[in-house]
Amino acid sequence: MNLSALHSFGKEMLQKNKIDTEKKDKAFAQKFIQHLDAIESLFDEIYGRHPKRNAAFDALLQNLVTQYQQRPTTLLKKDQAKAKKGNWFLSNDIAGMSLYVDRFAGNLLGLSQKLDYFTELGVNFLHLMPVFESPEGESDGGYAVSNFRKVDARFGNNEDLEALIEKMNAKDMYLMLDIVLNHTSHHHEWAQKAKAGDSYYQDFFYFYENRDIPNQLDQTMPEIFPESSPGSFTYIPECNKWVMTVFHHYQWDLNYSNPDVFVAMLDTVLHYANLGVDILRIDAPAFIWKQLGTSCQNLPQAHTLLRLIKQCVQVSSPGMALLGEAIVAPDEIIKYFGTQEYTAKECDVAYNATQMALQWDALATGDTRVMLSAQHPIMQKPFGCTWISYTRCHDDIGLGYDDYMIERVGLNPYHHRTYLKNYYAGWHEGSSSAGALFSVNPKTGDARISGSLASLCGLEKAVEWNSPLHIEQALNKIILMQAHSMFMGGIPMLFYGDELAYTNDYSYLQDAGKSYDNRWMHRPIMNWDKNEKRKQEGSFENIIFTQTKKLIATRKRMPILSDTKNTTWLTPHNIHVAAFARTQENKKIYCLFNYKDTASFITWYAFKEQGDRPSVLLDHWSGKEHKVGNDHEYFVLPPYGFAILEAVQ
Ligand code: GLC
Repeated sequence: MNLSALHSFGKEMLQKNKIDTEKKDKAFAQKFIQHLDAIESLFDEIYGRHPKRNAAFDALLQNLVTQYQQRPTTLLKKDQAKAKKGNWFLSNDIAGMSLYVDRFAGNLLGLSQKLDYFTELGVNFLHLMPVFESPEGESDGGYAVSNFRKVDARFGNNEDLEALIEKMNAKDMYLMLDIVLNHTSHHHEWAQKAKAGDSYYQDFFYFYENRDIPNQLDQTMPEIFPESSPGSFTYIPECNKWVMTVFHHYQWDLNYSNPDVFVAMLDTVLHYANLGVDILRIDAPAFIWKQLGTSCQNLPQAHTLLRLIKQCVQVSSPGMALLGEAIVAPDEIIKYFGTQEYTAKECDVAYNATQMALQWDALATGDTRVMLSAQHPIMQKPFGCTWISYTRCHDDIGLGYDDYMIERVGLNPYHHRTYLKNYYAGWHEGSSSAGALFSVNPKTGDARISGSLASLCGLEKAVEWNSPLHIEQALNKIILMQAHSMFMGGIPMLFYGDELAYTNDYSYLQDAGKSYDNRWMHRPIMNWDKNEKRKQEGSFENIIFTQTKKLIATRKRMPILSDTKNTTWLTPHNIHVAAFARTQENKKIYCLFNYKDTASFITWYAFKEQGDRPSVLLDHWSGKEHKVGNDHEYFVLPPYGFAILEAVQ
């Protein structure tokens, strides 16, 4: 459609829906018309030649209007307040925690009674792991959804969720929920109908009469869970067909080449927005487009669909930001922020999975060179977007950075990765780590790492060894890792339990619905008696809780830590130390992290070589002032220590 025809079409639609374009709904109407062009061209890039194009496009626009009309007034007001602030999610004031409702507090009601706990810690942003209906035993931690709009009875009901959100609002807390865009549970109504032979719903998935195409696709599609769910296709005896299941055999991939699928899922996106979601975590967006002869990951069409979602959200629920959970190669992650004319117009937030893995790399080797070598793509993040900055989450740790980043510092990628895996699995001599390898693929030699922050940092073994030295090291490592992600740009996201040094929980081995997936070892069940120990001076819980709290408070005190793309790595002077500066107007802080088990020395020249001449540096962490010495003298960082320095003279 040409632009004026498109605008008339849009205006008609607004009229038909009784939108008050002059007064009450003026802002919406303007956005609707403004974004129409981009919405249509992105939609047509994918569906332009599809026989259902017109009906689907109408339905999409109609949903935008209806969902706007259903947006509660409180959220419309919140949208306005957020728009005034600009990119509100860049602020240093936000500190998040990701948690399973049932494992954390029993259910939604229980969680709403625990909000003071977050306030005590300084957390004001919650990522609730999937709460919508998901069959027990075939749930993938909630990522196999059988009903996108009904809270699973395990957690309570829809009203409990609404009540929780209201309570969180009253405390000015932000909320993140997931939309599991790539697949549904095989118990979802669409899948059930497809199984029963309904061809309309079979088109919602990728169905095949025989193994011809699946065999071809299997040659190029990497396996995600090679041990528990090898291959990417599952035979469905009820209809004698094969269906695509990239993740587990019970998670059926949605077919986004069918516009009806996109329209239905976008409507759920907007429905979540109307629940009061502040950041929507788009689960596994890298996988949403499939094409023969490719890896079926990170394809351009996946980006087009995300851009289309962003445009639609900006129209109907502009206060909701989008997080793309793309845990892929560094050069690919960065593309989820958008490229070319869509730079900073795709996902607002992405996980800094590369940096996270690099911190684990440095911790195992005591060497930060690979971390530095991999920074180039990370630093390309556009202004206005931000990272989720984290050390652990509910998933495994993948060493997803590229081989060339390792080779560049003179190391052999194969040996280096093998060392890291052996180190964290606890197989390497002297390793205090108690993790496990996850998704080992004997065909490719790939493996990822499971384990809780505390166990990977050595606390579990140190206690077993009854070694005060190792205990002290483990506690320092935990805080070092958290500090680094807290002071890098991005929204810090703690994983529940880590703030209290929970070690691995092996009870999942007794549960048939979980024992095949060792990620459950680092998804603890909170023990609130144990959690009380945070008040007991000198306990591990106390040390880690107090220091995590202090990290958050320190970050909140310093606006310079907002993500204004103001991070610059310092020239390396010591391979054990990661060091960067954050700047804001004429202010500057230096953040230094020692990944070595002994003290590290940094020449004072490191603070002068960019033209500054500080004479006294205040460490915001220890509270100590340091007189800057001569170039041949040193600033000393303790073993696994760090400093946040600011020139005060
Ligand atoms: C995401 C989730 C992970 C899940 C997968 C499939 O990567 O974080 O836990 O297994 O998607 O939904």
